[in-house]
Amino acid sequence: MPILGNILQIGELPHMTFLKMKEKYGDVFRLKLGIVPVVVVSGLETIKKVLLKQGEQFASRPNMYSFSLLADGKSMTFSEKYGETWKIHKKVMKNALRTLSKSEVNSLNYSCRLEEYVCAEASDLVNTMQQLSKDHGGFNPFPLITLTVANVVCALCFGKRYNHHDKEFLRIIEINNDVRKVSGAGLLADFIPLFKFFPSTGLNELKKFIRAFNDFIANAVQEHYGSHDENNIRDITDALIKLCNDRNKYDKNYKLSNEQIISTVNDIFGGGFDTISSALLWCMLYLLKYPEIQEKVQKEIDEIIGTSRSPRFDDRKDLHYTEAFINEVLRHSSFVPLTIPHCTIRDTNLNGYFIPKDTSVFINMYQVNHDQTVWRDADLFIPERFLDESGRVDKSLIEKVFIFGMGVRKCLGEDVARNEMFIFLTSILQHLKLEKEPEHHVDLTPVFGLTMKPKPYTLRTENRL
Ligand code: HEM
Repeated sequence: MPILGNILQIGELPHMTFLKMKEKYGDVFRLKLGIVPVVVVSGLETIKKVLLKQGEQFASRPNMYSFSLLADGKSMTFSEKYGETWKIHKKVMKNALRTLSKSEVNSLNYSCRLEEYVCAEASDLVNTMQQLSKDHGGFNPFPLITLTVANVVCALCFGKRYNHHDKEFLRIIEINNDVRKVSGAGLLADFIPLFKFFPSTGLNELKKFIRAFNDFIANAVQEHYGSHDENNIRDITDALIKLCNDRNKYDKNYKLSNEQIISTVNDIFGGGFDTISSALLWCMLYLLKYPEIQEKVQKEIDEIIGTSRSPRFDDRKDLHYTEAFINEVLRHSSFVPLTIPHCTIRDTNLNGYFIPKDTSVFINMYQVNHDQTVWRDADLFIPERFLDESGRVDKSLIEKVFIFGMGVRKCLGEDVARNEMFIFLTSILQHLKLEKEPEHHVDLTPVFGLTMKPKPYTLRTENRL
């Protein structure tokens, strides 16, 4: 259609529409979303060409209005164009994340600071869930899970956790939820540029959130400048400030500005907050849907960790069924259905099709995770598919679960995410049995977004210990 292009065709769950279109048009087809031509790529082998073999040619990000608002257009993840500066920025982010997630702690109980933060939050989470169930019976886990996960990333980035009643912190969480409801509307401006000039509630909400989020981060960074001590690096923000200061002393010819370096903290905060909370909300929903699977995970926790100590990162290698369950949730829900949009850096060719420079490219990860030629009975939920005959996780199958992207643009937080999901889930299940409300039906239909959340649900808990 003029102006709208194929927008009306893509519906509420675009990844599902793209999946159906793939049946008809093959691994590579082109749509017009508004006035923007978008190439949609499916099929594992074709996707490998795009992200691995010809990775560099597809490694940039398109100019999208909503992306330009994030971190004032300095986001390494969303807005920086692929090139030398971007490569340095990604390295800075990788190192920043490693500094703190792998840094040693003074306690014998923990292997690193990330583990210390996650275990402390997990213990609070279990207590609060017990209390909520006692006080209210069924409760909605969304706010609590989001706060818990946000607190871990806050501790990593800013060295402090927030009280669950802290007004500023709650505001950020709340606006984030509001924005999810309207982001579909806000995104129209990404494809029909005229929309950025129309007064739209969706777009205004999105801008309000991004402003509040940027202010929240900027205040925390400002506080850090005031108390910075280069001999005592407390968190990721300190590590980034030190990097800026050291360069100022020894190297004036740098490509990355100090502002870009500091904006890294926006990306880490943004990346580590909505994704992991969505993952946990999906895990809990699947446990409500399949109580017999919940029992198997609990049996494994009881046998290997027991009741006298809390779970640790190191337990991951021994809890094969639990790992299989988490990976089946990632695969089956595919709650990040498409990668962040990619963009070609020059004219290129894919499976015989010509794709011009600066074309937006959507990669359908959901399709790969539900491809019957890759996964037998792909639409069924079967954690056992990841286990070999001796009940051990088959790592080669786990690598096939496609949810963190692949190649140069691959997610930097996979290890952090996998460790966090494991600790939160095993801590909950060590102490609590999760049950759905008797009259409720468990609905696995997602609400579409960059990360898809389940529809709101409630649950009850019963103490196991
Ligand atoms: C279950 C949790 C997570 C999932 C499923 C996930 C998934 C993804 C996906 C699909 C991408 C885009 C890849 C592409 O564009 O091709 C991405 C990028 C990214 N993720 Fe994650 N992510 C998760 C958690 C995290 C965490 C915890 C962090 C950091 C603490 C993080 C940091 C990033 C960054 C920095 C990028 C941008 C990479 C780039 O543009 O080159 N992610 N993630």
